[in-house]
Amino acid sequence: MGRFAVAFLALLAPTAVVSSPIKARTPYQVKETHHAPRGWKRVERASADQVMNIQIGLKQSNFEELERHLYEVSDPAHARYGQHLSQQEVKDLVKPSDEALDLVHEWLQDNGVAPAGYSTAKDWISVTLPVDKIESLLDTKYHTYEHADGSRVARTSKWSLPAHLHDHIDTIQPTTSFFRARAERFDHVLDAGWIPPAYTPPSNSTLNKVCNISSVTPECFQTLYGTKGYKTRAADVNKVGFTNYLGEHPIRSDTEKFLAKYHPEAVSSARDFKQFTIANGPGDGPITQEELADGTDKEANLDVQAIAGISWGTPIESYSTGGSPPFIPSQMAPDNTNEPYLVWLDYLLSQPSIPQVISTSYSDDEQTVPRSYANRVCQEFARAGARGTSILFSSGDDGVGPDGGVCVSNDGKNTTQFLPGFPSSCPYVTTIGATMKFQPEVVAYRPPFDRAGKHYGAYTSGGGFSNYFEAPKYQKQVTEAYVKSLNGTFDGLYNKKGRGYPDISAQGMYFAYFYNGTEGTISGTSASCPLTGGIISLLNDARIASGMPPMGFLNPWIYSVGRKGVNDITSGSAHGCDTAGFPAQKGWDPVTGFGTPIFPELVKLAGASFS
Ligand SMILES: *[C@@H]1O[C@H](CO)[C@@H](O)[C@H](O)[C@H]1NC(C)=O
Ligand SMILES: *[C@@H]1O[C@H](CO)[C@@H](O)[C@H](O)[C@H]1NC(C)=O
Ligand SMILES: *[C@@H]1O[C@H](CO)[C@@H](O)[C@H](O)[C@H]1NC(C)=O
Ligand SMILES: *[C@@H]1O[C@H](CO)[C@@H](O)[C@H](O)[C@H]1NC(C)=O
Ligand SMILES: *[C@@H]1O[C@H](CO)[C@@H](O)[C@H](O)[C@H]1NC(C)=O
Repeated sequence: MGRFAVAFLALLAPTAVVSSPIKARTPYQVKETHHAPRGWKRVERASADQVMNIQIGLKQSNFEELERHLYEVSDPAHARYGQHLSQQEVKDLVKPSDEALDLVHEWLQDNGVAPAGYSTAKDWISVTLPVDKIESLLDTKYHTYEHADGSRVARTSKWSLPAHLHDHIDTIQPTTSFFRARAERFDHVLDAGWIPPAYTPPSNSTLNKVCNISSVTPECFQTLYGTKGYKTRAADVNKVGFTNYLGEHPIRSDTEKFLAKYHPEAVSSARDFKQFTIANGPGDGPITQEELADGTDKEANLDVQAIAGISWGTPIESYSTGGSPPFIPSQMAPDNTNEPYLVWLDYLLSQPSIPQVISTSYSDDEQTVPRSYANRVCQEFARAGARGTSILFSSGDDGVGPDGGVCVSNDGKNTTQFLPGFPSSCPYVTTIGATMKFQPEVVAYRPPFDRAGKHYGAYTSGGGFSNYFEAPKYQKQVTEAYVKSLNGTFDGLYNKKGRGYPDISAQGMYFAYFYNGTEGTISGTSASCPLTGGIISLLNDARIASGMPPMGFLNPWIYSVGRKGVNDITSGSAHGCDTAGFPAQKGWDPVTGFGTPIFPELVKLAGASFS
């Protein structure tokens, strides 16, 4: 999490002054132990004077109550359906108690530490300190860890807190978190021309005319999912957003070329979409030579083009957040190797009005995040949901985990297991898987070898079950039925009681797109997610135009009502971890969820009208 605006300091000052000295002192006890996940190696002690930005996550005073509101306002069977909460109502539910704030301030003060900033709801306090000072504050030792890709971070496997603070602090990071943002895109540049085996073009002549397996265009999506002919009626209220990390920002000239070719009615979107820069993220300029050299902005271009190609003039907002790894720590600049979602969330939740749908195509293995931190990040997504925003995440591009003998747990024993992703495993987000082919659609899968036998790595729609989050009530019935249908296959490799994902899916192979002024194709759940975001934004448009609130947090609706408005995907599986992975089957499965959208049906099921 980045540096919070200095303004929050001023807000806090009165609290700090009136707080009465409690003078609680208790011995330190271990708060959390978490081993480094696969790919990371401990190399040496971190240098004592390396400066880091530390985020202290205070326990939110009333998250259980927020969760209750979230489920009530998102459940179509509940009287409060659609009565989303205001920014202030959500903030009041998550702000920490005065006692928690007082005790944490007292502890910091006793250690001579001054807060550097606060999140909007004051549930996060940031401090900036050299490593040796953090080590004494948390009774721990930091080491430098190196990833196989060369990135280095200072982390620890265990840290402690005075006993009386254990109930008031959920998490402190960076300590044990190795979580990073990874774009879930699969670039076919090296292997252009591959098409799925046994492909037969659609027999339906309308689809046949517009859907080309080698280059899938907006007209194909519009026809396949039935948004064609829909005219937006609520563009003054409705918005759709997407997030960028890792230095990515969407390039307007590429978006303009794409829309001019594939969706000329919407070409003004290329000039009109809003680009927000957060925590020194990249701005709105043309692509630079450095970005071109390492393929930066492909994800951002894909996201904006996938959305604009289907959302028919609904205003688009793009958020580019800086401060994310890979980051080479220096002794001069504060090390800001925390994952970037919280920085963005704090920004988003501080806005009075936010887009009704936001798509994110980045994730990492769940086990890179300690459980306490995963909980907190997930809870922040619940805040957006309670305010009436659908938060969408791509399900990952590795099926149940990458091939190559790397599917091991960080339990300290290297137990073989599938590797679920995060935030895709968070129960408060809607997770999107990928399909390919058209009639019928099947699970997106590209085997690791090309026709010449050259190895490029596989791409499969990601899916599985969380090891941290239990299956929430809205899906328990279908996840249990699915587990039962496996007859024990894969027992021991996954958590049968976990939150299963994805929830729904959409096309994710060979999207036509523009990059560096040139047309190409790109794949991934990275494509499926913004495409679905565009379709859900049209659903919101229909709802709003019919005088209703937007869909908000989608899952309770999808699992009870929306499931009837999809194409069920029943062929293919979540290949990965050197196995065939979970098979798609009738109804929900952890590969494609319930299936792909049939827009006119969803509009009807949402109680709105198509025109
Ligand atoms: C072909 O597909 C189009 C678009 O999905 C649909 O409207 C039409 O009914 C289909 N035709 C047949 C014969 O199934
Ligand atoms: C399908 O797309 C590929 C790649 O852009 C192109 O080479 C081919 O001509 C297209 N096929 C048809 C029938 O348009
Ligand atoms: C970008 O486009 C320019 C101009 O067409 C071209 O010279 C250059 O090779 C391209 N770079 C990449 C990385 O595609
Ligand atoms: C687990 O795997 C890592 C990396 O291969 C190895 O360094 C470590 O010794 C293994 N631990 C156990 C308990 O086998
Ligand atoms: C589980 O058993 C049922 C009944 O014998 C069978 O129909 C189904 O295909 C089996 N499922 C798997 C994944 O083997």
